[in-house]
Amino acid sequence: MTQAEPVAFPQDRTCPYHPPTAYEPLRTTRPLARITLYDGRPAWLVTGHALARELLADQRLSTDRNHPDFPAPTERFASVRNRRVALLGVDDPEHRVQRRMMVPSFTLRRAVDLRPQIQRIVDGLLDDMIAQGPPAELVSAFALPVPSMVICALLGVPYADHDFFEGQSRRLLRGPKVTDVQDAREQLDAYFEDLIDRKLKQSEPGDGVLDELVHVQLREGVLDRQDVIAFATILLVAGHETTANMISLGTFTLLQHPQQLAELRADPELMPHAVEELMRMLSIADGLLRRATEDIQVGDTVIRSGDGVLFSTSVINRDEDVYADADTLDWHRPARHHVAFGFGIHQCLGQNLARAELDIALRTLFGRLPALRLAAPPDEIPFKPGDTIQGMLELPVTW
Ligand code: HEM
Repeated sequence: MTQAEPVAFPQDRTCPYHPPTAYEPLRTTRPLARITLYDGRPAWLVTGHALARELLADQRLSTDRNHPDFPAPTERFASVRNRRVALLGVDDPEHRVQRRMMVPSFTLRRAVDLRPQIQRIVDGLLDDMIAQGPPAELVSAFALPVPSMVICALLGVPYADHDFFEGQSRRLLRGPKVTDVQDAREQLDAYFEDLIDRKLKQSEPGDGVLDELVHVQLREGVLDRQDVIAFATILLVAGHETTANMISLGTFTLLQHPQQLAELRADPELMPHAVEELMRMLSIADGLLRRATEDIQVGDTVIRSGDGVLFSTSVINRDEDVYADADTLDWHRPARHHVAFGFGIHQCLGQNLARAELDIALRTLFGRLPALRLAAPPDEIPFKPGDTIQGMLELPVTW
């Protein structure tokens, strides 16, 4: 179908678990729509599932964020050019080298091995929350500390520093001022410089991913300090903010869907399917970014070299050609081909870990607190604006 006017992208959600109603016209202009970015620049938005998977695997789309033509969804994003962004900011062949270095720490096997540790973290946090409540604020008591503790353990970052890096990640991802972003980057750089020094002084390296990077790759000259900092930043930021938002928004969504929740309680073995379906439905990373490096023909449309190409995962994951009755939460549909973790060479490195964390966190939370419910009217609970990773700002609960 043809589109009358380009839609402004991104926009705020009306309901935290549905795409913004402003994107409704985009659902009838599949697979490609025209959008306008915050600075008035036109760009393409991929909205169809098949085309998304095709283009996310297409090497003619670049993720080099430092290129002057790279599309910026917000002023905040535009203000941090000229920074090294490991993995997500590099194209092949360099990306392949970086990814190969990281993959052994993020395999399915590794995620399975981490499950007992994740379970202990989840149990400990719930013990504390239950001892102090009801009520509780679930984001600060549970949703954020679970992934934060897990990624600290995996990377070898002291959890004692969590207030600092959670605060800086928050400033990095959603301002509010442009200067917040630059300052947060500088603060994180200084923090990791110091952490690298501390690790280099240790006679015996720890078993975290950063210990390996510092004691092997840095010492052998495979990576320099800026590379290690770039890896540390993306792993730490991507590793806790995203999963935290999935836990908070996933809990909110389940509490708003009592029938599906009851089904899940009756058969906890459905949980891995529920995690996949929640990933599809919530599509919290909504707006993947690329720049065309050559002309790309899509049907009778040409994406020109230099054009910005964005991917709305929330719209793509509700493509009715792939997901019948796509707005309904259904544990029995095959949801696994969603693009909520991306697709192609940049597909989420931490997806096995994220799935394990979500499975254990939601299973244990609802298992231990059968009477868990919201402690405020749902429409009064604040959620995140559309220009960042989607999730709940707060989640007051009782039981
Ligand atoms: C539920 C939680 C998560 C969601 C929704 C999520 C989503 C995504 C998405 C959509 C991408 C692709 C971005 C693009 O193509 O532009 C991505 C990439 C990435 N994610 Fe995740 N992620 C999650 C958890 C994690 C965790 C726990 C880690 C752990 C370190 C992580 C690390 C990364 C990294 C390093 C990349 C870049 C991979 C590359 O470029 O090769 N993510 N993630």
